[in-house]
Amino acid sequence: MSISVVILAAGKGTRMKSSTPKVLHEISGKSMLFHAIDAAKKISDDITVVLYHQAERIQADIESHYKGIHFHMQDVEQFPGTGGAMKGVSVKHTKALILNGDMPLVTMHALESLMQGDADINMSVIKLDNPSGYGRVVILDGKVHEIVEEKDCIPAQKEIQTVNAGVYCVKKDVLDTYIPALNNDNAQEEYYLTDIIKMAVEDGKIVHPVIVDEEEFKGVNSKLDLAHAEEILQRRIKMDLMKAGVTMRLPETIYIDSRATFEGECILENGVSIQGHSHIISSHIKTNSVIEDSYIKNSDVGPMGRIRPDSRLIDTHIGNFVEVKKSTLHGVKAGHLAYIGDASIEEGTNIGAGMITCNYDGKNKYKTVIGKNVFIGSDTQIVAPVNIADDVIVAAGTTVNKDVEKGSLVISRTEMKTVKNFFYKFFNIPNS
Ligand code: UD1
Ligand code: CA
Repeated sequence: MSISVVILAAGKGTRMKSSTPKVLHEISGKSMLFHAIDAAKKISDDITVVLYHQAERIQADIESHYKGIHFHMQDVEQFPGTGGAMKGVSVKHTKALILNGDMPLVTMHALESLMQGDADINMSVIKLDNPSGYGRVVILDGKVHEIVEEKDCIPAQKEIQTVNAGVYCVKKDVLDTYIPALNNDNAQEEYYLTDIIKMAVEDGKIVHPVIVDEEEFKGVNSKLDLAHAEEILQRRIKMDLMKAGVTMRLPETIYIDSRATFEGECILENGVSIQGHSHIISSHIKTNSVIEDSYIKNSDVGPMGRIRPDSRLIDTHIGNFVEVKKSTLHGVKAGHLAYIGDASIEEGTNIGAGMITCNYDGKNKYKTVIGKNVFIGSDTQIVAPVNIADDVIVAAGTTVNKDVEKGSLVISRTEMKTVKNFFYKFFNIPNS
């Protein structure tokens, strides 16, 4: 852990056309900035995030999820630009990796290749057929000479196809020497971080180009970029999971959060969405089911099941059109059309079609506790808070609003009445 990480995230992100700061937009369930922080955490104990636009909101979001991250407020008024972002940043270790908050697809493999060797600066370089928009990297005799921003290029430089991907690994003494020496004498009147390279080269320092993959280093600047990055990350997540033994039917129709985990042999059918920190063990999730932040073990869900946050399903069968929320089901069958919210249900219990836990009275939420081997008939309302003991039969159509003792039958129905030939009288037609 002898490297520091600086994440640049002070840019405005105008092209995102959103009131949410650019770096807080999510990809596969996690904000772009958190993808960068998680990568940084794997390699460093000294992480600084540079902020300016909506700094308070971003800082609060980071602090609610991570401990020990340092923040640096860029003085954008006086020192705009990526070089300005580094002004006043102090790093603990002898080397610093400089990342961007809007590059969620960079892999550990690429970061490791940038941290290798003993050059004064390792910089990421991409070769592009169409280099427009990027800073051009002037390489002479295999050595980086300088980076020229597109707006500062002379026509011949515009033809250069090696471009700066924007991620660097720089020795601390290089930063300490050249960051204070930057000026804004360029087309954009900004302080360019890239200018430290020219100065370092002039002083005989070694700048090493590391060729990286364009796809990984694409910055996300618009909602279109965001969707594109999502597709790439989803493909990666699903590929890794299939390699690890998860079966997927039509994987391109499946969505899986980057924070979800799987164990054992799992099957995901088409159209399934696995969201949040879900943990799925040896289970079968059928067509078009949605799982959010839940634990599912030795169970099957769907088709068209919905398991909402904080649910735990163990040895359980959930059929179509069943919604479960914040409930623990252990050895339960709920085959069709039910709402199970704020409940705990034990082994051997069968939930009939149309059972509803009435868990909310308009003000507060209440718990339903159902014991073992309970048979709940169809079209029943379980009005919480309520406790149904083991070995109970709840007759179809019953409203349960009091606790039920072990071994009982509960039934609440108005008596059925039959009026013969009423139909014919009512519609005034002969009874044939
Ligand atoms: C920069 C590079 C360019 C490279 C490109 C790759 C410079 C001068 N140019 O260009 O050579 O090809 O990245 O994507 O560095 N940021 C701040 N403060 C600022 C400005 C930017 O923190 O004042 C942050 C942004 O939030 C972003 C990162 O720095 O995370 C890069 O900023 P961006 O505006 O995308 O850099 P470019 O000028 O496009
Ligand atoms: Ca950019």
